[in-house]
Amino acid sequence: TTPLRLGIAGLGTVGVGVVKIVRQKANLLATRTGRPVVITAVSARSRDKDRGVNLSDFAWEDDPVALAKRDDVDVFVELMGGHDGPAKDSIEAAIATGKDVVTANKALLAHHGQALAEAAEAKGCVIRFEAAVAGGIPVIKSLTEGLAGNEITRVMGVMNGTCNYILTRMQDSGLPYEEVFAEADALGYLEADPNLDVGGIDAGHKLSLLSSIAFGTQVDFDGVELEGIQRISIEDIHQAADLGYKIKLLGVAQITGRGLEQRMSPCLVPADSPLGQLKGGTNMVVIEGDAVEQVVLRGPGAGEGPTASAVMGDVCDIARGLRITTFGVPAASLEKAKVAQSNSP
Ligand code: NAP
Ligand code: HSE
Repeated sequence: TTPLRLGIAGLGTVGVGVVKIVRQKANLLATRTGRPVVITAVSARSRDKDRGVNLSDFAWEDDPVALAKRDDVDVFVELMGGHDGPAKDSIEAAIATGKDVVTANKALLAHHGQALAEAAEAKGCVIRFEAAVAGGIPVIKSLTEGLAGNEITRVMGVMNGTCNYILTRMQDSGLPYEEVFAEADALGYLEADPNLDVGGIDAGHKLSLLSSIAFGTQVDFDGVELEGIQRISIEDIHQAADLGYKIKLLGVAQITGRGLEQRMSPCLVPADSPLGQLKGGTNMVVIEGDAVEQVVLRGPGAGEGPTASAVMGDVCDIARGLRITTFGVPAASLEKAKVAQSNSP
């Protein structure tokens, strides 16, 4: 049988996790997909860095665009990050040369997902991005496959583990925001630009992708009403607790009389509810559909293993020949998002 050949651009937290799974679980992957899954070439900024994994069997490319164009790569796996630059250029190059793409890059897709999806469809390629939303939770697969018979009425959830860690820690320790923020920084939880986390932007990227999939609309990150957690004081946390609530950075996307409403903001949730009980870096996504009523998905939203797990789920689907389109419906037929600017809760 013909192996599926991966080219991996980005060998940081997630990329190394993917290399480990492909190396350590070769038999399992071949059994599950019916064909060997192999890595042929890799790329990162520094060739000399010790990454704790053996890369000597793989061809090296300094330039991810060159990697994306290689003839011995069937699937281009983009794990560099950044919403422009090499990530976008290399994905475009992969599509132009007829390759399927797997990425964990929510920032890129929130800004350019629609155009990339249409370019991929025009070339008969797929772009898969399970790892971009809620890390290890297979939420996109749930929406596009398991819940395909539903009209989705609402998606909501906690989609940024760092904010959930900060809010939970404030609650548990009584420490103020600034001190807990510094702790999160020391623990390495924050993005290089912390405002992506605490400003709600990263979670907003994820919500815009989920709502596009759930409601068949174009990705509309600009339509997400965003408010971060920077102004949550320890007094706010105490007052919420006195009333039986916890504060969570909650995303909600739903179709209202005014169209698609997307909101990512700090919200009060009952302390004893599943969302209220959510601790640390865990994510939770609640999906409501007309037939299923409600499904709750909970799991790790980040980290080497969970994120690589989601990447490999996409790789395995491609290895099996599953040509499901990026958003569960053809990108070309996604409706223009009708964005409601509303102040109602
Ligand atoms: P990371 O640890 O910072 O690794 C980034 C990798 O990309 C590094 O290996 C870096 O090379 C390489 N890189 C950066 N610019 C490059 C360029 N111009 N050419 C070639 N290689 C380049 O990032 P990560 O945490 O693995 O995240 C990767 C992607 O997954 C991002 O889109 C992120 O948002 C997404 N994601 C991450 C997580 C998570 O838990 N970490 C969860 C969900 C989604 P060097 O190592 O040589 O510097
Ligand atoms: N900064 C993100 C988070 C990483 O804290 O959830 C995973 O997307």
